[in-house]
Amino acid sequence: MKSKKKRELEKAKILKILADKNDYQLDPNAMINVFDITKVYDLGEVEVRALDGLSMKVQKGEFVSVMGPSGSGKTTLLNMIGALDNPTSGAVYVNGINVANMDDEEQTNLRLRNLGFIFQFYNLVPVLTTFENVELPLIFAEVPEDERIRRVEKYLTLVGLEDRKDHLPAELSGGEQQRVAIARSLSNSPALLIADEPTGELDTKKDMEIITLLQELNKDLNQTILMVTHDPAVGKLADRLLKMRDGRIIDEIKF
Ligand SMILES: Nc1ncnc2c1ncn2[C@@H]1O[C@H](COP(=O)(O)OP(=O)(O)O)[C@@H](O)[C@H]1O
Ligand SMILES: [Mg+2]
Repeated sequence: MKSKKKRELEKAKILKILADKNDYQLDPNAMINVFDITKVYDLGEVEVRALDGLSMKVQKGEFVSVMGPSGSGKTTLLNMIGALDNPTSGAVYVNGINVANMDDEEQTNLRLRNLGFIFQFYNLVPVLTTFENVELPLIFAEVPEDERIRRVEKYLTLVGLEDRKDHLPAELSGGEQQRVAIARSLSNSPALLIADEPTGELDTKKDMEIITLLQELNKDLNQTILMVTHDPAVGKLADRLLKMRDGRIIDEIKF
């Protein structure tokens, strides 16, 4: 008798081989192709199945929101798509690249050059100014200085913060800090923008400003956006809403 764990491991191996052989029907127009992923956290005594055979697609230029109860696997899903972690089994393609089988360095490179992240807690570096926070990913990506300056100014103008360039995060309002985080996430011209509850900490009016900004980026720059939100009023401002429960997509609504 093989243990359950051993069988799971063997299954994961086979699924990875299939993924490598491109045995999934990749949609070439999709920015995100997720095929039957599971994510199992092994905590010794208990096993948490955070994702349980989930498949989904996001087309290029689409704005998709994800909603679901706390613990349903939303952040775990974003982590897989954002190449922050590997699924236990299944395949994740972002812009045609299988991100599930990369090593750490490849994943870091992919994130620096192709992905933008916005989190609920803005994760700004407190000792850096607005300008420097937006510039930081470009320094890591080794973008030359004159090009960095050009891009930082472009995105700060886009989010309406060109006159807050020299402010530290503590000298900005919550909504302004989130706009810096958005400018930062855009500075590397990401193919995909990933937002995990970007409006969680703000009041309703500012929430709406942030969402309006995301909608404009989607329409004007054709920016593909995948956003988790707990707010139904925010969720329905996307093109399409995916509902999650127990690590699966249980429903989809098109607007
Ligand atoms: N690093 C981890 N180790 C163990 N369990 C985790 C870890 N991250 C998430 N989980 C568990 O996986 C499930 C899904 O979590 P998460 O994706 O954060 O849910 P959501 O974002 O929908 O609230 C939860 O039961 C959570 O406790
Ligand atoms: Mg979460």
